[in-house]
Amino acid sequence: MRALQWQGPNQLAVGEVPDPRIRTRGDIVVRVRQSVTCGSDLHVLGGSNPYVEKGDVLGHEFVGEVVEHGPDVQRHRKGDRVVVASFIACGRCWFCSQREYSLCDNGGCFGFSHAGSHAEYVRVPFADVGAFTVPDEITDERALFASDSAATGWMGADMAGVKVGDVVAVWGAGAVGQLAARAAILLGADRVMVIDRHENRLHQAEKHIGAETINCDRTDVGAELLDRSGGRGPDVCLEAAGELTAVREAVQLCRKGGSVFVLGLFAGAMDKFPLGSVTSNGLTVRSARMHGQRYIPMLLQRMAKGELTTEHLATHVLPLTQAPEGYRLFRTREDGCVRSVFLP
Ligand SMILES: NC(=O)c1ccc[n+]([C@@H]2O[C@H](COP(=O)([O-])OP(=O)(O)OC[C@H]3O[C@@H](n4cnc5c(N)ncnc54)[C@H](O)[C@@H]3O)[C@@H](O)[C@H]2O)c1
Ligand SMILES: [Zn+2]
Ligand SMILES: [Zn+2]
Repeated sequence: MRALQWQGPNQLAVGEVPDPRIRTRGDIVVRVRQSVTCGSDLHVLGGSNPYVEKGDVLGHEFVGEVVEHGPDVQRHRKGDRVVVASFIACGRCWFCSQREYSLCDNGGCFGFSHAGSHAEYVRVPFADVGAFTVPDEITDERALFASDSAATGWMGADMAGVKVGDVVAVWGAGAVGQLAARAAILLGADRVMVIDRHENRLHQAEKHIGAETINCDRTDVGAELLDRSGGRGPDVCLEAAGELTAVREAVQLCRKGGSVFVLGLFAGAMDKFPLGSVTSNGLTVRSARMHGQRYIPMLLQRMAKGELTTEHLATHVLPLTQAPEGYRLFRTREDGCVRSVFLP
């Protein structure tokens, strides 16, 4: 089959790889209808992920159709349209029993361990745990985002404890930041502010998400947040930029006793983390890779009702054969690219 392969730092090519087959009794094989780029792929692309080897297939977010299932699969049959959580989880270990799926002892992630979603077919292990049937009324362009960015954004707002009446600030107006802001609104936050430097993304956050915005290149973010939160600072700060500067701001600008959630994916040790603010301001700081299996069924219900829409994020839709160009647009954010979607 055809797939997008990592060939070395910032080198991608579409090539032929073996078709995936059922390997264990709980697997399904999915024919991909759409897959999409993600900020997390950019680390892989640059070559900073030691587990990705030359020839590996990229991508971890996708919606598709079941073409084959193993004998133990209960919830899926040939022809079903499914969306698949980007992190693979077994559903049986202690961490899965706590619903902390991305901590699964037997888990992994598509696109970071040889088999990815920018391909014609994907084998999905533990399919009864990680694949979800998409209701007919939801478009592919919408369901696709339940795979990862909508679930990630929702997790941030949920685990940071957003509640009715809160003032929430979100760093980053990519798909993850926008969908974190939408989650905060749906959880009853009073004011939700999205911070970024890209006007096109901020415009989307206003128009499609219903959030307020702050352009960090033109405004003093700290002064603005104080002003819009009765002089106290936001109750909840969600970092969805994947930048240490954003983490620092989120910690330093959060109100006393507030809550910070880091959605950006960081590796190793970080210098100049404002631990003093955490201690003296009594902050709660949390982070996680997304526990998609916990949220996807609820997200699909909200998508079906139209409470959560994502079509605007798919700014560039290209055939899989043009995926290298799609990644170039996504990486450089050229032509207003927010996400590139690939059609195999
Ligand atoms: N926790 C998880 O499981 C999980 C899942 C998916 C993505 N992520 C991470 O979430 C982050 C966002 O993902 P995305 O796909 O939306 O990425 P993206 O690259 O499309 O968007 C990031 C946005 O952050 C903005 N930004 C950068 N520095 C900033 C700053 N200091 N202040 C304000 N805005 C700033 C950029 O301009 C950009 O618009 C990435 O780091 C990604 O790795 C985490
Ligand atoms: Zn992702
Ligand atoms: Zn598990």
